[in-house]
Amino acid sequence: MSSTLLLARSATELVSTPFGALLTALAALVGFLCWLGFYPLRRWRYRHFPGPVGLPFFGNLPQIAAMDTTRYLSYVSQKYGPVCKVWFGTRPWLVISDPDLVRKLSAQCTARAKELTSYLSVLTGEVREIEAASAFYAHGETWRRGRRAFEASIVHPTRLAGHLPVIRRVLGRFVPSLARYTTASATSGQPPLDAQKAVGDLMLAITGELAYGVDFEVDFEAEGAPQGGCPEDASKQAAGGRVGAHLARISREVFTVIQLENASAYLALQLMFPSLAPAIRWLADLLPDANQRRCMGVNSDLAAVSRQLMTQGVSAKQQRDRAAAGEAVANGFKADEATNGKAVNAIRAFRELGSEIAASSFMAGMLEDRKGAGAQDRLSDKEVIAQSSTFILASYETSSTTTSLALLLLATHPEAQRALLAEVDATEGREIDMELLAELPYTEAVIKETMRLYPPVNVLHRHAKGDIKLPDGRVVPDGTFLALSSYNLHHDPALWPEPERFVPERFLTGPGGGGGPTHPAAWSGFGLGARMCVGHKLASMIGKATLLSLFRRYTFSVAPHQPVPPPMATGLTFGPKGGVWLNVHAR
Ligand code: HEM
Ligand SMILES: *[C@@H]1O[C@H](CO)[C@@H](O)[C@H](O)[C@H]1NC(C)=O
Repeated sequence: MSSTLLLARSATELVSTPFGALLTALAALVGFLCWLGFYPLRRWRYRHFPGPVGLPFFGNLPQIAAMDTTRYLSYVSQKYGPVCKVWFGTRPWLVISDPDLVRKLSAQCTARAKELTSYLSVLTGEVREIEAASAFYAHGETWRRGRRAFEASIVHPTRLAGHLPVIRRVLGRFVPSLARYTTASATSGQPPLDAQKAVGDLMLAITGELAYGVDFEVDFEAEGAPQGGCPEDASKQAAGGRVGAHLARISREVFTVIQLENASAYLALQLMFPSLAPAIRWLADLLPDANQRRCMGVNSDLAAVSRQLMTQGVSAKQQRDRAAAGEAVANGFKADEATNGKAVNAIRAFRELGSEIAASSFMAGMLEDRKGAGAQDRLSDKEVIAQSSTFILASYETSSTTTSLALLLLATHPEAQRALLAEVDATEGREIDMELLAELPYTEAVIKETMRLYPPVNVLHRHAKGDIKLPDGRVVPDGTFLALSSYNLHHDPALWPEPERFVPERFLTGPGGGGGPTHPAAWSGFGLGARMCVGHKLASMIGKATLLSLFRRYTFSVAPHQPVPPPMATGLTFGPKGGVWLNVHAR
């Protein structure tokens, strides 16, 4: 006790001399920098996991940037084994490519890596709260509420079927618009179609209208640059009432600002110094750079338009219900006729407001469902805003990548295209309904095989819950960032013979079929466990309806300058780089 006191006193004396104070400050600074940049303790805790050496502060980020995340994670697991470590800045990620472990960990860990958003943005204030409430990132009760909202709208069969009319209507506009690309002969000189862009427009139109219940007014005939641009005049547009077109512009802008190339300098700082994140965000708020301003601006804009739609949705619905009730009573309508009356009124209200949200939409469903909900289950306004934008964010790029690459793979595999055409032709004359969509095994196999080769979301992020003992005795420390690599499993020759070949028959059951995955974690295009994609039924419905509608009218071949296999890049998702160029042929 007394020796400790003595030590403390001499230390105090040393610090009180000028030289001593300087020395102490220097030591503290060096210690602080070491702690920031090297994390000696953390390195020690993860010493049992092999992996590439990381630079101080940056870790393996330079290699990841140079090589592309997907390719890098595939490379390191081939070099260092199915459980290895990569430094994302100063944070280690355990990359898991062993099927049994992926299955076990995806079942055991139901939270995404905490602070996953810190890899994507430096949002501050309200828009940060909204981002954190997204069903994709949230934890605990907020996640449960958000996930339930998605389930109510896109898992529950009758509500899911309720989205089909929008899908059919948008496809009805989209499919004829491709006629201008059709080549009667190889020499007619038509420019090829960029399927990545065209299908992207289609998916934005579909998912946007499903999410918000307003027509996104995407112009499929437009040539060249996508419509909409300046976010500055966006609020004027909204005031003019064309909310859908405005939302389409904002959504495209959200996808642009989220790309690494357009990231704020504060995001890089946050990656290097995660422990200083609160200070970095404070600075970003105080002295935003241009990219930070842009990112904050578009997110605030989106929140504002969402609020406007919510308010209009609620008040218009009240008016409509009152009017419908009044009319029904006055005319002595029977129950189902009253419902008809409501529908007529809904259409009238929609026309009058010009921007009221359709009752079948995700947003309208959330507003309706939260009325009857108990306090614990009631979505806050911020949560409604968050889930609506998550709807587009989670489905737009993923769906366009899958469908445009399916078209490319079919174009480069004529025998598969013939098999698909046979299935399509057997449905001739039938309207696309839920029953028909359930009868397309080959189309479904094409989509699954496309997602096996090119999974748009190819790492499942999890947060290790408690210390986890691996079968070989090593311990994964509590809170570890787990990167369960779907991509690596999808390309593992032990799970998929000749993994680089496109063979839809792998997913067919019955004679000649491969019978599907041989391990429960061999295919995880939609993820695994409690955090599996909540939109997989809708995604498959949209994918199948799109392929069916397209192949009823066209066939596709690859354009001469399209590289095969297509160059890919990992941004927010894993997708084709530089377009997917196809020739379109009328049938
Ligand atoms: C082909 C299209 C799609 C692909 C490839 C895809 C893929 C994925 C994957 C891999 C995950 C992570 C799963 C995990 O961590 O285990 C995910 C999560 C999610 N997806 Fe999808 N998705 C697609 C379409 C959609 C659609 C259409 C929606 C909704 C409109 C949607 C909404 C979500 C949501 C909300 C989550 C987070 C779920 C949670 O954390 O509980 N996705 N998706
Ligand atoms: C970054 O922003 C610019 C300007 O809006 C845009 O043209 C570019 O496509 C963006 N980059 C990416 C990768 O989206």
